[in-house]
Amino acid sequence: MLKRDFSEIKKRKTFAIISHPDSGKTTITEKILLLGNIIRCSSINRIKKSNKNLKSDWMKIEQERGITVTTSVVQFFYGKHVINLLDTPGHEDFSEDTYRILTAVDFCLIIIDSSKGVEDRTKKLMEVVSLHNIPILTFINKIDREGISTIFLLDQIEKELEIFCSPIVWPLGRGGSLKGIYNFQNSSFISRNIKGSILTNEKQKKLEFINIEESLKSILKKKFEFDIFLDFKKELKLVKKKYFSFSVDNFLDGIITPVFFGSALHSIGIAPMFDFLIKYAPTPKKKKSDVRIVFSNEKKFSGFVFKIQANMDLRHRDRIAFLRIVSGKYFSGIKLKQTRTGKFFIIRKAIYCLGNERKIVNKAYPGDIIGICNNNSIKIGDTFTEGEQIKFLGIPNFSPEFFCSVSLKNPMKKKQLSKGLTQMFEEGAIQIFKPIVSNCIILGAVGKLQFDVISRRLQIEYQVEIVLKKVNIVAIRWVFCNDIKKLRFFKNNNSMQLAFDNEDYLVYIATSLFELKMIVNKNPNIIFKKFREC
Ligand code: G4P
Repeated sequence: MLKRDFSEIKKRKTFAIISHPDSGKTTITEKILLLGNIIRCSSINRIKKSNKNLKSDWMKIEQERGITVTTSVVQFFYGKHVINLLDTPGHEDFSEDTYRILTAVDFCLIIIDSSKGVEDRTKKLMEVVSLHNIPILTFINKIDREGISTIFLLDQIEKELEIFCSPIVWPLGRGGSLKGIYNFQNSSFISRNIKGSILTNEKQKKLEFINIEESLKSILKKKFEFDIFLDFKKELKLVKKKYFSFSVDNFLDGIITPVFFGSALHSIGIAPMFDFLIKYAPTPKKKKSDVRIVFSNEKKFSGFVFKIQANMDLRHRDRIAFLRIVSGKYFSGIKLKQTRTGKFFIIRKAIYCLGNERKIVNKAYPGDIIGICNNNSIKIGDTFTEGEQIKFLGIPNFSPEFFCSVSLKNPMKKKQLSKGLTQMFEEGAIQIFKPIVSNCIILGAVGKLQFDVISRRLQIEYQVEIVLKKVNIVAIRWVFCNDIKKLRFFKNNNSMQLAFDNEDYLVYIATSLFELKMIVNKNPNIIFKKFREC
């Protein structure tokens, strides 16, 4: 790889922000975009209501329910760095999408609401993050509100998320008496903007790093404020003793999480967190494939598809595959092999997506996410190379938790239904099962709301009206066995409970967890899997 291309890799930071809903993910994302000059003035409402291109809510259901279902990627410059920020669906019913996005990032920023502490969804997401061994930074938000004690919050993170905390900043005061934030790394103090108005990047910079004693003299005018200061000094001593001091290696190994406190709404603590991220968060490194580990500085192009979004623009009925570049360099006209099929594609027009706004990409490097417009030929999990026969690992299909049978209101629309369902399966929005002994179609989803989305999208995009009926299924497991005779025997004995998924993998359909346990115990030669590689 050329020296110039290598320095491009070192400039890149690719990450996602994850949190329990309402912790402030949207607000923080907006403030980060403000830092990156992607947007020029800050108002969540402005973004939510008028500039729809910046939000990934181009689907009607998102607008109606006020949730983020789909995912967009934002690329922007911050100084000489290139930031790829992947938005994730906020609602837990779309967590499968979030899990896949985590395979495409190099690190994560976890947001915790300081008045609520570690919540359920954060715990679940953290389990997935741990599976992929991704370094995480933690931002404890809403410290402008009274809430759980700061020390208690850190202890809770260590216990519930099973990671050691390394506080990088510490708040002076809380809620209404919040005065600002002390930075352990350079012993500086960032004072709160009293007016609470939203700061632009430059103004924020000017306020940073004033000498602590000097700034405190002007800030702490009243006696009770000096009491807050004394508590704060005690806390600083305790924190230094109790928690890990920051080490890059421990951070990159996922042993510690650097912790920041702030208020996204009032732009407190965002800039120092982001500057830290730029300095210490990992650049694109390597990815495991079925044959070998592929390093980002290799000359030849490789990448994998982690998301497919269809019909982002209804007028064009397009379908975009989001591909994360692992190694090499993308340029217009590159010839790439889809290793699943062995077919070669010439990619002339890759795009960056920002909501439903597109930009043509001329060059892209490891860490970048490019969108490839395609017909139905690309699937989630596909690997693309310049010819090498490898497949990147770790892009999963999860076992659904909710099931429905689907039937048509108008039986003449069978073809459209099949097309629509296949489309949504390939996007990873739904899973389709066809029982061996019946003609019905069973849909499986990780969250209930996915069924509403499917039903609505079939109606809008394919003009198909469906009836969904709840079925008595509690779980499915993918069935694998190397011994063909034993597998045949198992199939003959359990045909009533077996189905094929949309890619003809065999699945066991369980009507109760007890039954599932029994069947697993009774068949030690059969492997029952909760997820399978895409
Ligand atoms: P999410 O994407 O994680 O779901 O959270 P979002 O940013 O939408 O924030 C959820 C609510 O929390 C919003 O209020 C938002 O204004 C508020 N919020 C975010 N950061 C802070 C903070 O630092 N301090 C305080 N006090 N509040 C914060 P909302 O009333 O639900 O919505 P809105 O009407 O303000 O848009």
